[in-house]
Order: sequence, then C-alpha cells, then structure tokens
Amino acid sequence: MIRQTMIQARVITCSDGAFHGSRVDKSGPAVRALLEGNGYAVDLVTVVPDDVDEIATAIENAVGDGARLVVTTGGTGLAPRDVTPEATMRVAERVVPGFGEVMRAKSTTKMAALSRAIAATRGGSLIVNLPGSVNGATECLNAVLELIPHAVELLAGGRVEQHPG
Ligand code: MTE
Repeated sequence: MIRQTMIQARVITCSDGAFHGSRVDKSGPAVRALLEGNGYAVDLVTVVPDDVDEIATAIENAVGDGARLVVTTGGTGLAPRDVTPEATMRVAERVVPGFGEVMRAKSTTKMAALSRAIAATRGGSLIVNLPGSVNGATECLNAVLELIPHAVELLAGGRVEQHPG
C-alpha cells in the first residue's frame, strides 16, 4: 500500500526545568529529528511544565490542531512532579498498553522499568509518552516506531491489510 500523506505529529516536552529556562530541552528536538527522519510532518515542539492541567491542555491543543500523533517526552518517572501519564489519562479515550510494554521490554537498561510511559487514543489521534532523557526518548521511540503508522491507520478507520500470523 502506498501511503499518500505524511502523518502530522506534535512533540510536547514536559519539563519544569526546560519550561523555566534552567535547562535546555534536548529531548524534544531529538524526538522531532527522529520523527522527521522517518517521514512524519512535525508541526511544533512545545515545552510545558510538569503540571497535569498544562500537559493535558497541550495534548488537547495538538489533537485539535490536527496532529495524528502526539509524542510527549519527560515526566514519566516516579518523582512527585512526574505527572505526564496522569495528564495523558485525563484526555485519553482508550489506553494502548502494548506501547509501554514494548518500550520497556526493548530498552537496553533495566532503569526503563522506572518509566510509567503509556500510550492512549483520543479521537483519531495516538498519544505516546516517552522518558525525558535523550537516550531514553530515542530508544523508546525507536522501539515503537514501526507500530505507529498502522495504529494511526486503524484509528482513522482506514482499510486494513491482512496480517497473516
Ligand atoms: N528508558 C530507556 N530506554 N533508557 C533510559 O535511559 N531512563 C529511565 C526510564 N526509561 C531510561 C528509560 C529512567 S532513569 C527514568 S527515571 C524513567 O525513564 C523516567 O524518566 P522521565 O521521568 O524523564 O520520563
């Protein structure tokens, strides 16, 4: 099947430090580069603080602006301010547990178990959480990249090819 259009994507960096300017956001641009290198049209990398309302609003805005894929980076751990999965749950209609499972299973560090990253759907859009470090974000995104086009296609209700076995 020939995919006619690029998938529109948005990257949301969830980080108090990056939002307030005390640290430079390296993960957002790294995720953007990885997505663009794989044929996605990334309209924006936005930076929000580690706040459930702010993150949830940023996800809603991305979906409202037409992003079929919304990727967050950061805020998936266990620190008190790590609330990205909670914000994702707030706007989620359905959870897709397999994305987090694959990310943690394919990671090269056992520390991956400390990420509570989830994936979820909202309307026809897929939301995927990634850890906040550049290595964690890119490794986890690489782990699920091949799943995304088919997931987005299914969400759109498009024609589904048979996948024997
Ligand atoms: N996953 C991969 N593949 N590589 C990593 O380096 N870091 C882990 C984990 N997932 C990591 C990873 C660590 S140390 C933490 S604390 C959690 O992601 C949560 O990170 P976050 O709070 O920045 O999202």
